[in-house]
Amino acid sequence: MKTMIGVIGGSGLYEIEGLEGAKWQTVETPWGPPSDDVLTGTLNGVKMAFLPRHGRGHVQSPTSINYRANIDALKRLGVTDVFSVSACGSFREEMAPGDFVIVDQFIDRTFAREKSFFGPGCVAHVSVAHPTCPRLGAAARAAAEAAGVTVHDGGTYLAMEGPQFSTLAESKLYREVWGCDVIGMTNMPEAKLAREAELCYASVAMITDYDSWHPDHGEVEITEIIATLMGNADKARDMVARLPALLGPEREDCPHGCDKALEYAILTQPP
Ligand code: ADE
Repeated sequence: MKTMIGVIGGSGLYEIEGLEGAKWQTVETPWGPPSDDVLTGTLNGVKMAFLPRHGRGHVQSPTSINYRANIDALKRLGVTDVFSVSACGSFREEMAPGDFVIVDQFIDRTFAREKSFFGPGCVAHVSVAHPTCPRLGAAARAAAEAAGVTVHDGGTYLAMEGPQFSTLAESKLYREVWGCDVIGMTNMPEAKLAREAELCYASVAMITDYDSWHPDHGEVEITEIIATLMGNADKARDMVARLPALLGPEREDCPHGCDKALEYAILTQPP
């Protein structure tokens, strides 16, 4: 089967450079419009699709993003492997601004989003016990290290609704009691929907701040986040550009079963 890499870029990552045959494609989905058109092309002989999660010009808030349309649009284009890149706060001293974390677990505290492709008429329960694909996580790690980034392998991501940042009490709860490592507003329900769509999914958290818990750092400010992202944008683009060579143009079935998530998940009887 042909590999097609999908990249969902967050704040600070709005395009991929160097794509051959690059074109922005409008994709229609039954869930409504995705955040933006999708940039498609080929890099090192591997097909790629890039979707700016917030839309060009950053027009979609974490709550208004149409996560179902975004995942469905990538699936319709033939994407097999999704890399999510997003700005995150850190709950760990050693996960410093500028570092990347290869996320492997989530706590989903979002509450104002459509979270499933299934519902009345067709009921399915997929497993998200292991919500990310280790194969893609390893590729993201290798690509980020080769791009010169300090990478932390594994981390629990607290997905909050936003758009406001956390209170100090929330920040301490997530860090000290729940044992979370990073916090962001966009990876849920994205990761759950990727699993329902039987897509392999990896999440790269680009650390921009220490949220509000750190006694030596003040409150989170968007200016601080943007300054860190600007300093890191080249490395993020370099990481993405290294992914095709690591994955190659052909792929086998996923050894972790991401691409067969629905095999035993659908309860509704066929008509
Ligand atoms: N994105 C970047 N930093 C964040 C933070 N501290 N909380 C939530 N989302 C973020």
